[in-house]
Amino acid sequence: MLAHLKELGKVVLVVASSGIAATLLPDASTAHSRFKIPLEIDHASSCNIKKGTPLAQSIIDAALIIWDEAPMVHRLSFEAVDRAFCDVMNIPFIGQHYRPFGGKLMLLGGDFRQTLPVIADAGREESVDASLTRSYLWNFCNVLSLIQNMVVPSSLNERESYSGMNFVDWTLAVGNGSVPGKAFSDNQPPDWIEIPQSLLIDAASEPIQTTASQIYTDFMAHFHNVSYLTERSIITPTNRNVTELNSHMLSLVPGQPRIYFRSDTLHTDSADPERLEAEYPTEFLNTLSFNGCPEHQIDL
Ligand SMILES: *[C@@H]1O[C@H](CO)[C@@H](O)[C@H](O)[C@H]1NC(C)=O
Ligand SMILES: *[C@@H]1O[C@H](CO)[C@@H](O)[C@H](O)[C@H]1NC(C)=O
Ligand SMILES: *[C@@H]1O[C@H](CO)[C@@H](O)[C@H](O)[C@H]1NC(C)=O
Repeated sequence: MLAHLKELGKVVLVVASSGIAATLLPDASTAHSRFKIPLEIDHASSCNIKKGTPLAQSIIDAALIIWDEAPMVHRLSFEAVDRAFCDVMNIPFIGQHYRPFGGKLMLLGGDFRQTLPVIADAGREESVDASLTRSYLWNFCNVLSLIQNMVVPSSLNERESYSGMNFVDWTLAVGNGSVPGKAFSDNQPPDWIEIPQSLLIDAASEPIQTTASQIYTDFMAHFHNVSYLTERSIITPTNRNVTELNSHMLSLVPGQPRIYFRSDTLHTDSADPERLEAEYPTEFLNTLSFNGCPEHQIDL
C-alpha cells in the first residue's frame, strides 16, 4: 500500500507504537515521537502539534497515515492524536461536524491477541480497559482481517501437526482463549495452558545444545553461509539464555573469537565522588547486567 501510494505521488505518514517496529518500516518513527504525544496523558490531553509547522502540514498533506502495532498503545494516546488532528484540520472536536482524526484516513495495524497496553501494577481488566477497542474511536473503525500466517511457513506448519492441531492453529487458539486452561495445583484457578508435547523440543539434560542443534541443523557445514544464518533465530526469555547460547554456538566455530569489553564509569553529582567510587569500583560495575545494555564482555 505504501509503495503504491508513493508511486502515485501521495504523502503517507508511517508510525509504529514501538521503536523496534518503526525500524522495520520505511521512513517510520514511533507514534509518540512523530505526533508529539504526551507521556503523561489524561482524558483531555492533546499532542503538541502547532498549526503552520512542517509537522502540521505533513498531516494535512497525508493521503494515509499508517500506525503499526496499534493495540500496544493506550486509548488515551489515540484520543490525544484525534484531538490534535481535528485542531490541525479545523474540524470541530464535538458536535455533528466532528470527524475522527480530523477526517484523516488512518490504517491501524496490529493484533489484539498480542501485547496490550502495559500499565504498571494493573490486572487484566485495566489493560483491556486501556485498549483502543474501549475508545469512542473504535466505533468508527472498520476491521479487516489478514488470515494467512506470514511468519510461520506452511511447510513447517504441516510438519509439526499434533492430533489434528498444528503449531499455527494452536497459537491462534491460545490467542483466541479457546485452549482449555489447567490448574497448576488443586485450589488454583485454571489459568495455565499446556503446550502440546509435539511442539516442544525434548531437551531435558542438555537444553542449550539440543535447542541449538534443532534450529541450527548441520551447523558445522553452514556457519559461514549467510543465507543459512539469516533464515534462523532463537528467541529466549532471558538475557542469560542468550549469553549461554551464544557462547555455545561460538565454541563450535573454529578459530579464536574477538573479545570486546564494555567501558563502565560512574557519573555522579555527589559531593564525595571518591567515596562513591570506592563503594562502586569499576570491577563491580562490570558485573552489572541490564535490559537494553550489552554485557560487559561480548565475544564475536
Ligand atoms: C475462537 O474461539 C471461538 C469460540 O471459542 C471458536 O468458535 C473459534 O473456532 C475459535 N477460533 C480459533 C482460530 O481457534
Ligand atoms: C546456504 O544456505 C542456503 C539456505 O539454507 C542454501 O539454500 C544454500 O544451498 C547454502 N549454500 C551453500 C554453499 O551451502
Ligand atoms: C534461561 O534462563 C533462566 C533464568 O536465567 C534459567 O532458569 C533457565 O534455565 C535458562 N534456560 C536455559 C535453556 O538455559
